[in-house]
Amino acid sequence: MLGNFTYHNPTKLYFGKGALQNLKEELPRYGKNVLLVYGGGSIRKNGIYDEVTAILHACGKNVAEDAGVMPNPTTEKLYEGTMLARRHSADLILAVGGGSVCDYAKALSVSVHCTEDPWKKYYLDGEEPTCEIVPVGCVLTMVGTGSEMNGGAVLTNPAQKLKIGHVFGSEVMPRFSILDPTYTYTVPKRQMVAGIYDAFNHIMEQYFSGTDDNVSDELSEALMKSLVKNSYAALADPTDYEARSNIMWAATWALNTLIAAGKTTDWEVHMLGQAVGAYTDATHGMTLSAVSLAYYRYILPYGVKKFRRFAVEVWHAADEGTDEEVAEAGLRAMEKWMRDLGLSMDLGSLGVKEEMLEGIADATLVMDGGYKVLGRGDILAILKSSL
Ligand code: NZQ
Ligand code: ZN
Repeated sequence: MLGNFTYHNPTKLYFGKGALQNLKEELPRYGKNVLLVYGGGSIRKNGIYDEVTAILHACGKNVAEDAGVMPNPTTEKLYEGTMLARRHSADLILAVGGGSVCDYAKALSVSVHCTEDPWKKYYLDGEEPTCEIVPVGCVLTMVGTGSEMNGGAVLTNPAQKLKIGHVFGSEVMPRFSILDPTYTYTVPKRQMVAGIYDAFNHIMEQYFSGTDDNVSDELSEALMKSLVKNSYAALADPTDYEARSNIMWAATWALNTLIAAGKTTDWEVHMLGQAVGAYTDATHGMTLSAVSLAYYRYILPYGVKKFRRFAVEVWHAADEGTDEEVAEAGLRAMEKWMRDLGLSMDLGSLGVKEEMLEGIADATLVMDGGYKVLGRGDILAILKSSL
């Protein structure tokens, strides 16, 4: 049964080849001062920077640049960007990049006019913004996080060894996002597969919770099947437009609040992955793949019916035998797919050492929506078998 919910997603999406031209329509809605935010330089190499800045200048914008947003953006970078955005009196923050750049832009949007320390207020204390919020627009170049159509903004504090996400409300979600699948052709294979697994795992996090059978289950199964099918096509040919566009669109729906509507959700794999990320700065999707099988095998006995359904519906496992047998067949099929993609399958390959495990366990937030609420011993056991 679906629980009660309010659904409102204000992000306007422009999707497809040449979608950037729509930026011309959006820009006049905002003031003159634009802060252009981007990462370590991929957009300069592949020409997206030139296309975006040409439109900004043609629209008469006064542009300042905040470059060098790193994968897993840090508090230090946020403080630096906040000063820059204040000096520029930014009317619009335009993020051009992947989830890191888009998340960072959202964190910036609630920090520019904030008189308190944003890390403490939003991340440690989990408070909501009380200040003016600078609008954010996004040109997406890397697929996976869903950041282009949600309120999530994940930040890392390396000194405190903490990586925390805050899911802000609709006023912080991008006002518009531009999704051109051809922009993802230059994403390195390792990043591409990490993004695909990130999107897949977002769906798992929402699917493996609760016992109710509702429309979200069918939507989730369709999205997962589409990701698996198209991942093989994109691996074979990174410029396969059909595959890249299907992956891009599925990843957006994987985490734009739709499939979570009216149901409980898990998110424990993400909590484990974020703690690993805080200790290693590893690629987000790889931190998830490295802990996933150990986690799902650990909780399988507590949600075996749903794992059986997952095996049959998503992985086409034969619906014969005990729940445990069918469920395990599904996880084996998932493991094969993960290995075919070339995902990181253990924490050791991400630089995790045995002596880090206690600290990672302490940095792992415990969620209560999954099939088992983990204790510290459970977390350590999962981390050890992922090593
Ligand atoms: O920095 P540049 O040079 O641009 O290179 C980036 C970066 O090195 C490169 N890249 C992006 N587009 C490219 C490209 N290279 C060539 N061609 C292109 N078109 O890819 C690398 C990774 O980019 P990044 O933005 O870090 O990846 P992703 O999109 O996976 O974002 C990861 C961040 O998002 C957070 C993660 O925790 C992590 O900090 N997440 C955000 C979520 C949300 N908002 O809801 C949910 C997720 O679960 C996730 O936690
Ligand atoms: Zn994720």
